[in-house]
Amino acid sequence: MKTETVAAIYDRPRRSQTAATERAVKLLCKGEIVALPTETVYGLAADALDPLAVAKIFEAKGRPRFDPLIVHLPNKEWLERIAKVGNRSRDLIEKLIAQFWPGPFTLVLDRQSIVPGIVTAGLDTVAVRMSAHPVFTEVVRAFGKPLAAPSANRFGRVSSTTAQHVLEELNSRIPLIVDAGPCEHGIESTIVAIRDGKISILRRGPITAEQLSSFGEIDMADDTKISAPGQLPSHYAPKTPLQLVDDARSFAAGPNQRSALLAWNPVEKEGRFVTVRNLSQRQDLREAAANLFRYLHELDELNLDLIVAERVPNRGLGAAILDRLQRASHRQPDVRDMPE
Ligand code: TXA
Ligand code: MG
Repeated sequence: MKTETVAAIYDRPRRSQTAATERAVKLLCKGEIVALPTETVYGLAADALDPLAVAKIFEAKGRPRFDPLIVHLPNKEWLERIAKVGNRSRDLIEKLIAQFWPGPFTLVLDRQSIVPGIVTAGLDTVAVRMSAHPVFTEVVRAFGKPLAAPSANRFGRVSSTTAQHVLEELNSRIPLIVDAGPCEHGIESTIVAIRDGKISILRRGPITAEQLSSFGEIDMADDTKISAPGQLPSHYAPKTPLQLVDDARSFAAGPNQRSALLAWNPVEKEGRFVTVRNLSQRQDLREAAANLFRYLHELDELNLDLIVAERVPNRGLGAAILDRLQRASHRQPDVRDMPE
């Protein structure tokens, strides 16, 4: 794929649509991914409500595992369609939003069910933010729906703060980079969660603890939690034991064992399984990644004795899927692995 870089010529007071933002919106509508400037770092954006489009983000970044993504809202009205604000901390959340949105500030809240599992990596929470960058704002408003966007860099590298940097990282992996010059902050947004009425800082960023402290008590998450929230032990793991197999046809169920199959290989009928979910009928890893968390949730809700999951090929997005399945299979169902 050829990666094009197009300069965004924007005019702050008028916020006019430019050729670059129009191209970006068109691609996003087609389920493509596009690198866009934000006030913190460049983001790699996709339709947050389209799991297949989101799977392309993981593929382009070469993330060996899924990590939850930030959902960028077109306006504040979208907040409660994506996340639950609840009543307990509503006042505090509303004050924080009034002060820091749009801006480099991300809130982790309980998610609404329309958010695909691949966006939250199976978590029950979702990270939301509203960017203040005029180009990002123009694109997300014209698109009219939230955009999922991690930093536009390959896995394990530093975030990109210029279009040139994005090109070095993602050349030939994405169709378009919208260039609006260097990012204002150059570090990623501050991420907070509200826990027991306190403001828990999950990632330090442009909005400082000092700024936040005038809104409530600050609770610094410990360093391990800051570095990789997606790795938290509270990360989604099915309650139902999960067994990984190469091919379910050679799987022998125990007596009276009620199991479900999460299939990769083509299956004709349910047979020995209570139910079957096929990750991708056409054995497309992108589609499999997009379906993974939803199917795991659905099978887990059946309260069966076992979920049998077939290994997917260990290439491309398959490595991320396998990593997630392996972690799900290592869980001991009777051991609480969530230290407070
Ligand atoms: O400034 C930013 O936030 C940039 C721009 C593009 O918006 N985005 C960004 O995304 O830094 P990313 O994916 O590189 O980092 C997002 C972080 C990850 O560490 C992820 O684990 C965490 O946010 N995160 C996302 N959803 C979460 C959730 N539900 N709970 C806890 N952490 C979450
Ligand atoms: Mg990042």
